Order: sequence, then C-alpha cells, then structure tokens
Amino acid sequence: VKIPDEAVPLPPFTKLEYGVPFEDLNERFVVSDDTARSLARTYGTPLYVLSEAHFRHRIRRYQAAFKACWPKSTLTYASKANSTLAVLAIAYDEGCLIDVASEGELRAALAAGVPAHFCHLHGNFKKADELRFAIDAGVDQIMVDSFEELACLRQLNRPLPSLMLRLAPGVRPQTNSKISTGQDDTKFGFNIADGSAARAVEECAAHGMPLRGFHAHVGSQLLDPDAQRQAGSLLARFAIDMLHRGIEVQEINVGGGLGVRYLANDAPMEVEAYCQLVVGAVQDALAGTPLMNSTLTQEPGRTLIAECGVTLYTVGPVKTVPTDTGTRTYATVDGGLSDNPRPALYGGVYDVRKIGSAAGAKDFTIAGRHCETDRLFSDVSLPSDLKSGDLLQVLCTGAYNSSMASNYNRFLRPATVLLREDGTDVLVQSRETYDQMFAREINPFKPHASI
Ligand SMILES: Cc1ncc(COP(=O)(O)O)c(C=O)c1O
Repeated sequence: VKIPDEAVPLPPFTKLEYGVPFEDLNERFVVSDDTARSLARTYGTPLYVLSEAHFRHRIRRYQAAFKACWPKSTLTYASKANSTLAVLAIAYDEGCLIDVASEGELRAALAAGVPAHFCHLHGNFKKADELRFAIDAGVDQIMVDSFEELACLRQLNRPLPSLMLRLAPGVRPQTNSKISTGQDDTKFGFNIADGSAARAVEECAAHGMPLRGFHAHVGSQLLDPDAQRQAGSLLARFAIDMLHRGIEVQEINVGGGLGVRYLANDAPMEVEAYCQLVVGAVQDALAGTPLMNSTLTQEPGRTLIAECGVTLYTVGPVKTVPTDTGTRTYATVDGGLSDNPRPALYGGVYDVRKIGSAAGAKDFTIAGRHCETDRLFSDVSLPSDLKSGDLLQVLCTGAYNSSMASNYNRFLRPATVLLREDGTDVLVQSRETYDQMFAREINPFKPHASI
C-alpha cells in the first residue's frame, strides 16, 4: 500500500438535501422504487446501497452533539462497521479519526487517503509485525489490550506513538452477549476490578512508555445506554485514582455502541441526549480536577453508518410448506448468510420491504440460498402476491454487513453503490469475480484450470 503524503480531497460538501427533505436524513435511508429498479438493472443483486448524504449528516449531527457537551472532543469512526474505502474517505473528510482493528483495516484507511496519524489501532492480539507496520506508518494511537502487548511494544525498540490502555470497567450492557464487552469476564483490556489496569499504568510509568489515556468500549447495539454511562464514570474515576498516584492522562475514550433502528419501533436514545448522558457522567466524576482539560473521544461505528445503507435482493422460489401448527411460506432471495451473517450470528432482525408496493398482507420467512437453513428474516409481512423476480430492500444494512461478508458456498460478495447528494450513483465496490475468488488458490495436484 502506498501511504499518501496527504489526504485525497473530496468534492466540497454543498447541500444536505439529497433529493429529500432535510428531516428525512434523520430517518433510516430507504431507496425509492424507481431508484431501486434502476440500480438493480445496472448493477445486479444482491446489492448494498449507501446514502452519502445520510452518512455525512449523521457524522455532523454526532460531532455537534458531542462538541456541545465537551468542546475538546474527538469523534472516531469505528471502521469495522463498514470499511469500504469510499466510506472511510467520507468519514475522514467529515473530520473523523479512524479506529482500525487490524493491519488490514489500517491499510484500508491508508488506501482511502486517510493519513496514518488520523488512525487508532485496536485489537486484543496485535502481532509484532502488525504493531511494527502501524508504528512505522505513523499511527496516532495504539489502544493497548494486554501485558504481552506492552512487552511486545518495548521489544520493538522504536519510538512509540501515544498509548491508550483499554480497560474492562466491569459493567453489564443490555445487549446480545456476543457483542457485550464491558463486563469483567471479557477477553478485552485490563480489568479495573482485579487491579490489572492499575498495574498496567505502573508498568507504563516504570518503563517511560507514552501513556496518553484510558479507553473502554462496553458493547454494541445498546438501546439502553446505561452501561456506557456507568463506564464513562468508572473510566473517569480510574483516571482520578491514577492522578492521585501522580500519573495524569490527557484523554478518555468512552468507545462506541449506541444502538440503531433495525426495526421501526426500535428506539435508541437520540444522539444529543446520549452525549449529554455519557459526557455528563464523565464530567460529574472529573469536576474540580485538572482532568477537566482532557480530550474526550467516542468511537461509534454502527450508529453512523447502519441506517445509511440498504440491501437489494431479487426474490427467487416462493413455496408454502406444512408445519406442526399450520403452514409457512418461504421466499428465497439471491443472497443470505454470506452477505449478511448477523441473523445467524446473533439473531439480527431487519425491516424488509417489497419494491413497488407498500403494505404487507401475509407473513413470509425470507431464506437465503446457502446450505444452512439460512433463515434470514422471520415473520416478515409482505404483499401476498410476492413472487419470483420481485425486488426487496432490507433497511439498516450499512453496518456489519459488507464488512462481515464471506464467500461461503463460493458466492461472490456483492457490489456497493453510493448514492451521491446530487442523486447520481457511483459504484464504490465492484461485485467480486470468480477470477478474484480463485486468485489465491494453489492446487498442487492439478494446474489451475481456466474457469
Ligand atoms: C473497540 C471498539 N470501539 C468501537 C466499536 C464500535 O461499536 P459500534 O459499531 O456499536 O458503535 C467497537 C465494536 O465492536 C469496538 O470493539
């Protein structure tokens, strides 16, 4: 990867209304019927579609809400949510730093034109080569996750960037256990309760390591933000404890995790109220101490990008089968587990709509085409005449879909199209080809046949 000297400038941001009233940018992005048909014709399905205006608007709204509560604030975009290069370029253009959780995500940011000194490296097991690459590239911060990592950093024998210690504050978020990370029983970070966090601080001090601050991320898709409030308070109180021991830090990072509206009646806290709550907790704890001058950082992913994307699918076979209690009608779509693993991974639910008709009259089970039951979405109300060839759009797929896509069953990963603010569309990630899929295979038994 060539590391650019400076960011590639994007066209200036002119207007927030992408063919829709301004208020609609606060709603989940929905593709109009005509646009959906035209995109499906041009690019095929399954297709990820992202709205640039929604994404920029969400970043700006979050930044404004955060700054209003804490002027010395930094918003970092958690790129694991969606690391399509165009998405990273927009986040950077809007003034975000970029949270990268691997060398691959760091290389994606660099390839998108984000300077390394705008990137923060995360990960619970960063390999020495990965750390060396990140440091040599010039990352701004490394979020240290373990004593082994501290030792590894010292052994690298080079000047280190700022270090943030990831802490496990010991709170229990209300979310799926697979995306809950703030409790004591976690692989992430240094436990506050058992004294590991304090020992890590002492170790940094003893070795003259450039400790900048403390970080915690307690979980994802949090519709009840109380865990983040508690974590903010615990991080701040820990920073004060360390201050009393003579170690003053400059930054507190309270992670991401704000939930989104997968279903119409999901009600995450509005970002303004959320910032007041979490920042308020930090502020209350730090009041009257020099730590009030600290930089405060948040690193959301999902809440910035999830609602800005939809997936378009074409319907295939529709069949009604007997069940123990009656019948079930399956509608198959031309995607599934490989482009959206969230339903299988942790019971993710979605709002599914048919292109060309509004109301639903019959319950369908939407299945994918993988060799698992690949039941994507259950009890989806759609028009009863749904048939092969119809188009569906699934809302709120901007986060943890394209970034989690796989080649299971050797399906090609979908393309991504960005709808620009002026209504034009641009392909930002092409559909994978079979040549790309087989490019890394070496068959020692038979020379590569041309397919
Ligand atoms: C360290 C860290 N920061 C930020 C995030 C982003 O979380 P979310 O997308 O829920 O905002 C994650 C998600 O797993 C994370 O692990």
